[in-house]
Amino acid sequence: MEHSSNNPPRDVQVDNAAIEKAVALLREGNVVAMPTETVYGLAGDGFNPRALARIFEVKQRPLFDPLILHVTGIEGAFAVAESISAPARKLAEKFWPGPLTLILPKNDRVPELATSGLPSVAVRAPSHPVARALIEAFGGPIAAPSANRFGRISPTTAEAVRKELGDAVPLILEGGACCVGVESTIVDCSAQRPLILRAGGAPVEEIEAIVGPVDHATPVSSKPLAPGHLEHHYAPGKTLRLVDSLEQLNPAGDYADAGLLAFDRLPEVRFGKVLLLSSTGDLREAAAHYFAMMRELDESSVRQIIAVRPPKTGLGLAINERLGRAQSKRS
Ligand code: TXA
Ligand code: MG
Repeated sequence: MEHSSNNPPRDVQVDNAAIEKAVALLREGNVVAMPTETVYGLAGDGFNPRALARIFEVKQRPLFDPLILHVTGIEGAFAVAESISAPARKLAEKFWPGPLTLILPKNDRVPELATSGLPSVAVRAPSHPVARALIEAFGGPIAAPSANRFGRISPTTAEAVRKELGDAVPLILEGGACCVGVESTIVDCSAQRPLILRAGGAPVEEIEAIVGPVDHATPVSSKPLAPGHLEHHYAPGKTLRLVDSLEQLNPAGDYADAGLLAFDRLPEVRFGKVLLLSSTGDLREAAAHYFAMMRELDESSVRQIIAVRPPKTGLGLAINERLGRAQSKRS
């Protein structure tokens, strides 16, 4: 198995008995939680409308928000897509298995429920060994949104899935902490120029190195191109304030009741709690820590959260996009 630079090989034990159990549940139209290198997913049979309906129900997700189908590689994509354009193929060859989702024209086998009635389907080949083992053993595409309730912080550990979905999921496959930590980058290759619908684990700069300049979907619109990618998403329960740097904080301010999600250095002023995304300013490390730290601050006793925006390059773009959506208020 090949790994691109953004997917360091990892040492995760695949528990074959657990995979067998998961396959049996998937075959009967049930759901299971599976680890991927980006975030944990809530998995169901991609070709079974009853299983897809169950995913929407467990997540409390609106039906207009379509799902990603997970496959093992390009052959798997051909099982759900009508065709694969040249740029899409190039991107798949570079990033799969890995944190990239392609929007491709769907074929007739894909249920309407998976695509929310759209003529296109989202497809991704994850690199996590447990996800790969599950898709292989199941022998077909697996639909999986992130395993959180709709709009909330995505889970990057099995424990976080348990807290999010608990008893609603009969089985949570253990796969350690997700090494990428933010969701896949979504690229629509059906237009003239590839269009980034969601910044994510595959850096835009690396995508442009393969297919040339790309367009970006307006980050916030009332009818978003990635339909589930609403203005308010990835949100903690507590109030969130964003700053561009620590210098924006009031040096004489009282932040004792606030939690700080710092980027690469600690503040001079005292906070109730401080978490540091990456002491060396490494954006990959910051992305890997992002959701778990946001969750930890949300679950702590602080009353509000302040987060420092990292630079908008590499995986910093994905972090910034999620921070922006986490902060924006429900209209
Ligand atoms: O990393 C990931 O992508 C994770 C792991 C589990 O693979 N999955 C994930 O799924 O983030 P979810 O459902 O939370 O986000 C999928 C996004 C949604 O915003 C959805 O609107 C968009 O993909 N999407 C799905 N099908 C689409 C389509 N045909 N056209 C445009 N956007 C689509
Ligand atoms: Mg999600």
